[in-house]
Amino acid sequence: MTMLSVNVNKIALLRNSRGRNFPNLCDFVGKLINLKVKGITVHPRPDERHVTRQDVFDLTKFLGLYPDVEFNIEGFPSDQFMELVLAVRPAQCTLVPDEPDQLTSDHGWDVSDNEQLLTGSLADLRNAGIRSSIFLDPDPDKVEGAKQVGADRIELYTEGFAHHFGLESEHALLEAYRVTAACAQALELGVNAGHDLDIKNLGRFLQIPGILEVSIGHALVVESIQYGLESAIERYLAVCSGEETETHYY
Ligand code: PXP
Repeated sequence: MTMLSVNVNKIALLRNSRGRNFPNLCDFVGKLINLKVKGITVHPRPDERHVTRQDVFDLTKFLGLYPDVEFNIEGFPSDQFMELVLAVRPAQCTLVPDEPDQLTSDHGWDVSDNEQLLTGSLADLRNAGIRSSIFLDPDPDKVEGAKQVGADRIELYTEGFAHHFGLESEHALLEAYRVTAACAQALELGVNAGHDLDIKNLGRFLQIPGILEVSIGHALVVESIQYGLESAIERYLAVCSGEETETHYY
């Protein structure tokens, strides 16, 4: 069973566009939990254009009512970000190498170039009892470095797979993800995945054994608008549980 962690940044973005607290992020997360979602992800960026620092505190308090729901906070390990994460102590923190003004994450870590930053940040997370994950491209050569800097898990950056999904090139690319995941698992690193996954491509990606968690935001919100939140979540959970491998529904 792969955990579905819903990234709620888009819900915060929708709220921010009108300047009042609607939709209310905690209410929305409550709806997801009622639909049996067990993971919530946020990516608070320095400009607070989607999820704000205050949202992180509010969600931490709200999720305290649901100890079986995992809170994952992702972002670049700036001093400000690390201070926030260490203050709220989520179950998991995913470190991402994105610039402050970046539209969205678009590459994994170059671990050797950032060895000092990652080693220090990952040690701080470990000492605070927070599970860590680092965003990685599907490149088996990067996995050893992830282990050495002290990550508990890697999150495979899946934009490449999503881009090639349904094309002839998909097979070779999926193989690169499979090999990277297997290398990580051999080193006892857990494997998460995320970015541009959707209800059509997820089943194929989850043919890779042992993916512990997928973090999905953009497509899930779009599909919820098209088909309803309940229906979309139901389909995602069916794929994550392995009940469905291919979804032709949409
Ligand atoms: N993982 C990381 C590290 C991300 O930055 C994002 C986007 O915020 C996601 C997963 C989710 O990507 P998407 O919104 O395309 O599902």
